[in-house]
Amino acid sequence: MEKTNNAPIGVFDSGVGGLTVAREINRQLPRESVVYFGDTARVPYGSKSKDTIIRYSRQIVRFLQTKDVKAIVVACNTASAFALDTIEAELNIPVIGVVKPGAKSAIENTRNKRIGIIGTEGTIKSELYTEYIHGIDPEITVIGKACPLFCPLVEEGMLHDSVTYEIAGRYLDELKEQSIDSLILGCTHYPLLRSTIREIMGEGVNLVNPAYETAISLGELLKQKGMRADIHAKPDYTFYVSDDTERFRRFANSIMPFEIEETNRINIEEF
Ligand code: DGL
Repeated sequence: MEKTNNAPIGVFDSGVGGLTVAREINRQLPRESVVYFGDTARVPYGSKSKDTIIRYSRQIVRFLQTKDVKAIVVACNTASAFALDTIEAELNIPVIGVVKPGAKSAIENTRNKRIGIIGTEGTIKSELYTEYIHGIDPEITVIGKACPLFCPLVEEGMLHDSVTYEIAGRYLDELKEQSIDSLILGCTHYPLLRSTIREIMGEGVNLVNPAYETAISLGELLKQKGMRADIHAKPDYTFYVSDDTERFRRFANSIMPFEIEETNRINIEEF
C-alpha cells in the first residue's frame, strides 16, 4: 500500500532514552508525526547480546508497521549497532539509525583525527562506530569507552548531582589523556549529561549529539524521497511502552516540549 506523506514516523528505543531523538525530530521537523515505542519491559539493551537485540528489534518493527509508519528511526544506539542492517534489509520503507549520522558529524569536524566515543557496553563492543569511521577515513584513531552507570543516573534524574560528576570524571579521565578533539555521545541518554561531560572534557572537545544529527539526516532522507509531511500537516505524537506507563510518562514530560497525557502499554511479545 502506498504510504501518505503525512503518515507517522516510527521511532523506537529500549526505553525512555530515545525521547532525546524524538525531541530533536519535533524541533527540526515540526510537521512530522511520530509513533514512539519504548521497550521499558526489556530495557537495558546495552548489556544484551546481538541475537537478542535483533529479535527485539524485529518485534518492534512489526508492531510499528501496524501503525502504518512511513519510515523507521532506530533511536537506540545499541539497536542501531546490532540490528540496523538486518531490519533495513527486511523492510521496504526508509530506515535510519543513530550511529552513522553521529559518526559522520565527528569525521567532518575532527581536526587532529582523534575521536572518542562513549556508549553502552554493547555499542562499544560492537565497534560499529569505529568500523564506520574507518570505512570513511582509516587514519582516524577512535577510542571507545563504555559508561554503563550513566543511564541509571539519568533515569534517576541525577543530571547535575555530585555523584554523577564523580562517576563521569572516572569514565572520562581516560579519554582526556588521549587528546581527542571530538567525543560522540553514543547513547540516547548521554546528551542529557552534556553539561557535566562538557565541564570534564573542556571547551576544546567537540561534543557530538547523534540525536541531533539523526534528525538532520532524517529530514534530508525524507526530502530526497519526496516523503516530507505537507505544510498543512498537523503533527501527532503517540507513545507506546511494553511496561509501566506512568514512569515513562513522567520522564517523557520532562523531555518533550509538550504535555503527554496518554501512554499506551502493549504486549510486545505478541508481535
Ligand atoms: N538506548 C540505549 C542506547 O542508546 C541505552 C539504554 C540501554 O542500555 O538500553 O544504547
